[in-house]
Amino acid sequence: MQFTDFSKLDLNRVPSPCFVVDEVAVERNLKILNDVQTRSGAKVLHALKAFSMFSLAPLTTKYLSGTCSSGLHEALLGKEYYGGEVHVFSAAFTESDFKELLTFANHIVFNTPSQLVRFAPLCEAALKTRNDLQFGLRINPEHSEGDVEIYDPCAKGSRLGTTYSQLVKALEQSETQRAFKLISGFHFHTLCEQDFLPLERTLNVVEEKFAKWLPTLTWLNFGGGHHITAPDYQIDELVECIKTIKNKYQVEVYLEPGEAVAIGTGVLVAEVLDIGFNQLAQAILDTSATCHMPDTLEMPYRPDITNSGEANEKAHTYRLGGLTCLAGDVINDYSFDEPLEIGQRLVFEDMAHYTMVKTSTFNGTHLPAIATWNSQTNVLKIVRTFSYDDFKMRLS
Ligand SMILES: Cc1ncc(COP(=O)(O)O)c(C=O)c1O
Repeated sequence: MQFTDFSKLDLNRVPSPCFVVDEVAVERNLKILNDVQTRSGAKVLHALKAFSMFSLAPLTTKYLSGTCSSGLHEALLGKEYYGGEVHVFSAAFTESDFKELLTFANHIVFNTPSQLVRFAPLCEAALKTRNDLQFGLRINPEHSEGDVEIYDPCAKGSRLGTTYSQLVKALEQSETQRAFKLISGFHFHTLCEQDFLPLERTLNVVEEKFAKWLPTLTWLNFGGGHHITAPDYQIDELVECIKTIKNKYQVEVYLEPGEAVAIGTGVLVAEVLDIGFNQLAQAILDTSATCHMPDTLEMPYRPDITNSGEANEKAHTYRLGGLTCLAGDVINDYSFDEPLEIGQRLVFEDMAHYTMVKTSTFNGTHLPAIATWNSQTNVLKIVRTFSYDDFKMRLS
């Protein structure tokens, strides 16, 4: 998916490798999310885990209500650059991180009743000085909508969220009953790149299983995984559904999409470093699956490359690999109309989300530079380049 024609960008204007994000496309996505917010009355937060390009924070802040984070560091980034509400959920908090979060976060969501009980005294103390602080519990409705197990928080044996039976059992304890009084909202996150119907089905299960508690809450967070800015997403149905839930339970509804902010907005520019042959033609690039686009190995998925085809679809097929020592550092097999040349630039499409936030310097691999481009004005800014120091400073 690509909302911008990156063929209009002169690739020689950027270093390689480089993430290039079109701010016009990001604004397009943000406007759609803002429209959902305005029409439905929900608050839409930007999930930093997917896309933390904080040089674009002023744009994000114009359209969304705040950020959601996976822990202290993302929450600090949210507070420092994005403003608005700061929400945080973590599978488990350390005591030191938790104490710091209590000084500035707006919503802190626990994964389990046991973390809630452990930190309840700190929460009670913090509430004495902060009336903008709320606590929630992540529930697990045990309703799977995804096919990829590592991206399914409702997969069997999941550690994410509290199931109905876990909650009932925990509430048999008097200390949990007491701590549970701190909870003003529930949070569920069960989707991944999905449209409205999986959300509707999930909500039905949530309403059925957690019916006992929903009328006591003041907010409900539908998590992320909503592909709201993708073509054909059923936005009107989403808006109606949010309005219904808000009215039925008198709750504030939150959505926290990450991908939806960044899909179709950015590319990764890379360069061909070497070409060889072993059973098939091989090209080594200055990028890496494992360092720069780990989802290609984890999910796994095959990113599109502009002007390429499937293996053997066009005249010249290559296996494209990264420059690390990992034998499996292979992006995939692609075909091209003309033979590849050393020094040639390739454009990996739709590379803004879950890439920059996941890069590593394994083997001392260079981190890609980060650039913004305005596809209307053609203004390009190289926002950040990385050096030996960035590699060294993470080691000792
Ligand atoms: C708790 C939570 N909220 C929000 C998100 C954002 O999801 P997405 O980027 O798929 O919209 C995630 C993604 O894993 C998540 O775990």
